[in-house]
Parts: sequence; C-alpha cells; structure tokens
Amino acid sequence: MSKQSVDERALNRQVYERLAASLPGGKLRIIEVGAGIGTMLARLLRWGLFTQAEYVLVDEMQENIMHAEGWLRDWAAENGMHTSIPMPGTLHMADATRELTITLVQADVFDYIKTNPEPADLLIAHAFLDLLPMPASLTGLFSLLRLGGLAWLTINFDGVTTLEPVIEPALDLKIEQLYHRSMDTRPSGGDSQAGRHLFTHLARFGVQIMAAGSSDWVVHAIDGHYPVDEAYFLHFILHFFELSLSDQAELDRQTLLDWLDKRRAQVERGELVYIAHQMDFLVKLPRD
Ligand SMILES: C[S@@+](CC[C@H](N)C(=O)[O-])C[C@H]1O[C@@H](n2cnc3c(N)ncnc32)[C@H](O)[C@@H]1O
Repeated sequence: MSKQSVDERALNRQVYERLAASLPGGKLRIIEVGAGIGTMLARLLRWGLFTQAEYVLVDEMQENIMHAEGWLRDWAAENGMHTSIPMPGTLHMADATRELTITLVQADVFDYIKTNPEPADLLIAHAFLDLLPMPASLTGLFSLLRLGGLAWLTINFDGVTTLEPVIEPALDLKIEQLYHRSMDTRPSGGDSQAGRHLFTHLARFGVQIMAAGSSDWVVHAIDGHYPVDEAYFLHFILHFFELSLSDQAELDRQTLLDWLDKRRAQVERGELVYIAHQMDFLVKLPRD
C-alpha cells in the first residue's frame, strides 16, 4: 500500500491532464494489464477521470486478483459506493454519479490477449512495461485497443537509481550497475532503460506519442519521518535489492549484506533518500 502515495506524487501530471482531455465522453471500456490489486482504478475514480466504465483488471498472480476483489469492495464502501457481484469474477460499483463494472482476470497478459477480448478505448500499464520483452510485446498489447484508442503507459523505469547519503562511492556505483544489469538479464524480459527506449519502440510501431514526461519516485523523510508508511516501501526496495543481487558472482555476499544493513539503518534514522527515474507516456493508435 505504501507504493500508492509514492506513485501518486510521481505520476506525471502533464501527461495525465492530456489523457483526461483526450478521452471520449460516455461509457469507457478500459483494460489495465499487470494491474496488481487495483489501486490505479481506485485512484482514477478519486481523481475523477471517468464516471461510467467497464474496467478489466488483468494480473497473472492469483493472490493479487483475489485480494483485488476484497480490497476494491472495501474501498468502494469507504467511499460511499454500493457494490454487488453480478457473477463470479465481476464486481459492480455505483453511487449517484458513477457506475462501473469491473472484470477481474487472473491470467498472463499474453494468454489474455489470445482470448481476443473486446477492444478497449484505453489501455493502462502502470509499473509493468519495464518487466516485459520489448518491443516484441507491443503488438499484443496494442491489439487490446480499438483503432484510435489511447494507451497510458506509466512508471517505466529509466536507468537511474539514487540512494543518498552515499556509503562508499565505488561500492554504491557497483551495486547500482549490478542492480540495473539484473533487470536487463531477467529471463522473462525487462529493460533498465525502458523509459527512454519506449520513444523509439513506439515511433517504430507507428503510434503517436501525445505526451511524455518523467515520473520519478522520490522518497525522503520530513522532519525525520517518512510520509504514510513509506519507510515500509524503502524496506521493500532494499529487500528487492537483496533478492536481485544475491546471486551476483561479482559482489561478495557479506559486502552486500553489510551495505544493506547500513541502508536499513539509514531508513530507521529517517536519513535515506531514494530516487528512481521513470517515465510516463500517453499514446494514440492510428484510426486505420
Ligand atoms: C510492479 S507490479 C505493478 C502492479 C500494479 N500495476 C501497481 O503498480 O501497483 C507488476 C505486476 O505485473 C504482474 N505481472 C507480471 N508479469 C505479468 C504477465 N506476464 N501478465 C500479467 N501480469 C503480470 C505482477 O503479478 C504484478 O502484479
């Protein structure tokens, strides 16, 4: 949950405003891929991006999809919306001004694409594209859109991880480089410079980039305390460093563990500043 407030600050508002200004009126069909537990849907309702929609959430992890249903029902109740389950795997949410039918799909996105679903007005991929093989994945992903449809592709990691204060300049740099390399060598795909590379991939694919801008995660303490539960988010990121770097022959394990201990102590003292450079895009498919 702590990622929500970090994402919320990070999302590029200029790209978002272009999205809001470009959506057609009336009921929208939206497909969100790699959707996790549905926090983006709740955010977009809160931000008032749409009032009537069919919203399809696709995620490969069973736990995420199961959690999404309960989490979204709780969120709706807290926000004055009525919910019902018209059939298994769907959730209806409504109040006086808003009405949504949510379909929860547990599937690998590429298997979901093969089911040839009804095309969407808007495709959302949030903190997801940098995990996929690129540009090969674009053909399948854009097949989820109708002609002239929009894609909002957010939080694409782009090659810079900064942790301050520095512990040991050479070691910090080595760890950053190995961490990025682990993203580039994941068997399932991924690119530590996904953000900048998307400009070329999208142009070659022939879609129009309507807006692009940075969406960096910037996490720091205020008066010694991290906002909301962002200290937890920092511990999660350090845990991810540990997972990603544990098998790297070029980094002695004890050196890594000592470095992580120092970073964790910085979090406890409210000293650690974490910056991840990322990019958001709004893209439009041609009309024919
Ligand atoms: C970094 S998380 C982002 C989740 C969510 N968009 C958010 O920001 O809170 C990436 C998500 O993609 C899902 N995922 C990874 N590979 C996938 C695939 N091939 N098909 C569908 N979902 C996938 C994971 O289960 C995970 O929930």
